[in-house]
Amino acid sequence: MWLKTWILILCHFAIVGCIKEKFVAGNNFLLKDSPAEDGSNSARGRPERAVSRGGYCRLRGCCPGRDDGCNFQYNARNAICYCDSFCTSGSPASIDCCPDFWVTCFGHPTTQPANIRTRPLQQEGCTKGGHRYGEGAIFKDNCNSCKCINNHWMCSDETCLVRPNLINQINSGSYGWKASNYSQFWGMSLQEGFSQRLGTFPPSAALLDMTPVAGNLMTEMDFPEHFVAWHEWPGWIHDPLDQRNCAASWAFSTASVAADRMAIHSKGRFTDNLSPQNLISCDTRNQYGCKGGSLNGAWSYLKNYGLVSHACYPLFWSHHPHNTCAISSIVETDGERRATHPCPNNVEPSNRLYQCSFPYRISSREASIMEEIKENGPVQAVMQVHHDFFLYKSGIYKHRRNAGGPSQSSHQSKTHSVKIVGWGVLQDTEEKRQKYWIVANSWGKTWGENGYFRILRGQNECDIENLIIATKCHF
Ligand SMILES: *[C@@H]1O[C@H](CO)[C@@H](O)[C@H](O)[C@H]1NC(C)=O
Repeated sequence: MWLKTWILILCHFAIVGCIKEKFVAGNNFLLKDSPAEDGSNSARGRPERAVSRGGYCRLRGCCPGRDDGCNFQYNARNAICYCDSFCTSGSPASIDCCPDFWVTCFGHPTTQPANIRTRPLQQEGCTKGGHRYGEGAIFKDNCNSCKCINNHWMCSDETCLVRPNLINQINSGSYGWKASNYSQFWGMSLQEGFSQRLGTFPPSAALLDMTPVAGNLMTEMDFPEHFVAWHEWPGWIHDPLDQRNCAASWAFSTASVAADRMAIHSKGRFTDNLSPQNLISCDTRNQYGCKGGSLNGAWSYLKNYGLVSHACYPLFWSHHPHNTCAISSIVETDGERRATHPCPNNVEPSNRLYQCSFPYRISSREASIMEEIKENGPVQAVMQVHHDFFLYKSGIYKHRRNAGGPSQSSHQSKTHSVKIVGWGVLQDTEEKRQKYWIVANSWGKTWGENGYFRILRGQNECDIENLIIATKCHF
């Protein structure tokens, strides 16, 4: 008998200690989560002390009206009591109130006994869209995820790549371009967009120090108002590919410019598209594949080793997790470089390597860029990508400064490389001439205007006229 009583007493102390510990931990969490949830005489700043006095509402705070979230939970007993005014109503009165409710919330004790009622479990958890979710439930809200902790949704706070209110803002204003909700970007954060959808390193000093080739001193007036490479050279200009979440625009833009120029300079003898995957997997010296690369590196590789066609070495994202190079080559006695293995697919028989000469730089003058495109074909351009560019759907793009979204992210930009294929002029409503470049991106054909975008011309918008690169591909 004595032994049994002792064990009971010991158990009692163990449970009380356990409750205290859980309570302090849980309450600290709440403090972080919803500091402004109540505005009452709570003593949340001193949880330890309040606990030692047996506080419930003293810690939790008192809430007006009915507030089912204004409760205190005994985890150990799976029980809940309330600190809202509603706990005093109903029958029998005050059945739901925490023991210290009257003292803490009304300043005087009551004769009513304060009971703690056990509640069925399904009353706990969080609600979302009229549904109830249990403790620990997780849902994804675009790029953020929320978890139900202590009956509250706790959400991460990332800036998302697709922000519906920014899209609405752009589309209801007169910015000259429209935005779209791209499902391929949905769920990504802005930082993920920057780190996975671009992938050209800022140009090196060596690249920026290149002296632009001297063009003829032509002016814009010497050129047609509209020019686009696929009309001038039908069938020889290669449409945008989709780099997906592979930050290798360095490889995509280089291979695409080289392929177009190869077709033009060979007068249609070689019209294959060139393989960006060949660059991504094989040009690995100081290059980082789907984690970024430099344009000098890409052009050097193209000159020294050459690339096979895109048909020979296609983009196989899932098959090749380790991304090892599937092409090797030797220089034969006739001085030609030849691949030593067949194409890494069963369809294309030709593993011919195409090489181009060293790249050259074109002056940033609008007319020089136009002259180069018209005479020799599309050019490579380096540009700065801002957050709103991802959403571009149509029109003439111009970065919207100081607008939309968190100010930090709207000032951020990252380097990207693209292919300029032509230009044009739009007469806008106020009879103002809007000049633009026509540019190929590498985000697939569902993005922008069939994979292309138009961007303001002649004002170095997003730095697009700053560094223009081209090459000669003769055979
Ligand atoms: C945008 O697209 C995503 C996924 O395709 C969709 O879940 C979301 O509801 C769309 N948002 C708007 C505002 O249309």
